[in-house]
Amino acid sequence: MKRTVKDLVNLEGKVVILRVDFNVPLDDGGKILDTTRIVQSLPTIKYLIGQKAKVVLISHLGRPEGYEIRKSLWPIALILIQALPTSVHFINKVYGDEVKQRINDMGNGEVLLLENVRFYKEEIECDMAFARKIASLGDYFVNDAFGVAHRKHATTYGLARLMPNAIGLLMEKEVSALTGAVDNPKHPFVFIIGGGKVQGKINLILKLLDSADTVIIGGAMAYTFLVASGVAVGESKVYDESVSYARDILNIAKERGKKILLPIDHVCIRESAKRKKPFVTDEMVDDMVGFDIGPKTIALFKEEIKNAKQILWNGPLGKYEDPEFAKGTMEIAKAIADSDAYSIVGGGDSLSAIKMAKVENKIDLISTGGGATLKFIEQGSLPCIDVIQDKIVLKR
Ligand code: 3PG
Repeated sequence: MKRTVKDLVNLEGKVVILRVDFNVPLDDGGKILDTTRIVQSLPTIKYLIGQKAKVVLISHLGRPEGYEIRKSLWPIALILIQALPTSVHFINKVYGDEVKQRINDMGNGEVLLLENVRFYKEEIECDMAFARKIASLGDYFVNDAFGVAHRKHATTYGLARLMPNAIGLLMEKEVSALTGAVDNPKHPFVFIIGGGKVQGKINLILKLLDSADTVIIGGAMAYTFLVASGVAVGESKVYDESVSYARDILNIAKERGKKILLPIDHVCIRESAKRKKPFVTDEMVDDMVGFDIGPKTIALFKEEIKNAKQILWNGPLGKYEDPEFAKGTMEIAKAIADSDAYSIVGGGDSLSAIKMAKVENKIDLISTGGGATLKFIEQGSLPCIDVIQDKIVLKR
């Protein structure tokens, strides 16, 4: 068990460097589209404020190449000002004398947000000299950035090697919920996976074939599995390099008596048609391209969801960002929300889909991770969690 922020004592006046994941979606003008990750970070920040620590927040935003004004964390400071019961300060740097001075000047229980740490290339290089400069600002390092805990960067991994450390409350919540869901699931456990990029999800599906009773495969990746099971998919997107892996997964599921459900009808367009009007078909032939699951598939998947006691969902079931192909994903999102099962949703796209379906309040755990959530489920931990000190339990 890892040491948590609550195991750190006598924090009054101590400088705590808190790594958060404020990597929120932005529109082209840099406007913040969704604040879930900021909101989910508040419990740890508020806890530290309550302990009268000096809270120094550090985060990345996007993948900037050098300084990009659109990716400054300044707008996030404005959100924190509204959300926190204390003074919030911002500085457009992450280390140096000016930062030290600002920390000296701030009161106990106040918050200082540093600038986007990815403005410095040393961050993703996990440059330890860079990490040392940041470590010199504080007394403790707390990592609450679950969404980026799969990346060994200077402020996610390097700082933990240099400073007394702990995980934050969000990290603790994600770790315990995801571990419980995978190692100790409620049955029937239905795992729903969609989206594209089959190759990156092979090990995840294999891992979940251990604990899930049913695996539902939809979205762009379904066409690869349909091809592997001998079903024609017209000209739908198939990840050729993954077909034989998909076939192995189907065989392993059969051997283990696990159910894999694939779409049985589809919403398609004809590539050659002048007016690409979507239509539903059971059979995709010629130049048909599938973009969503059809009504029979929705009914089939809903039946499985209705009987589930636990559901884990990652990845949309179709091209949901286009209203003509959103129905499958929206219907499944609503079915998950309406079911009595313990529901966990992870991954950026599934989160947007849940919001689009307006059911986020009916999901038990919305994981803040995208790639991190998948990697955590697959591997049972992540490098930036492993590097944190274990809790010391004294035996009497
Ligand atoms: C995420 O959004 O998945 C995390 O913040 C990590 O971001 P990255 O993929 O740019 O490292």
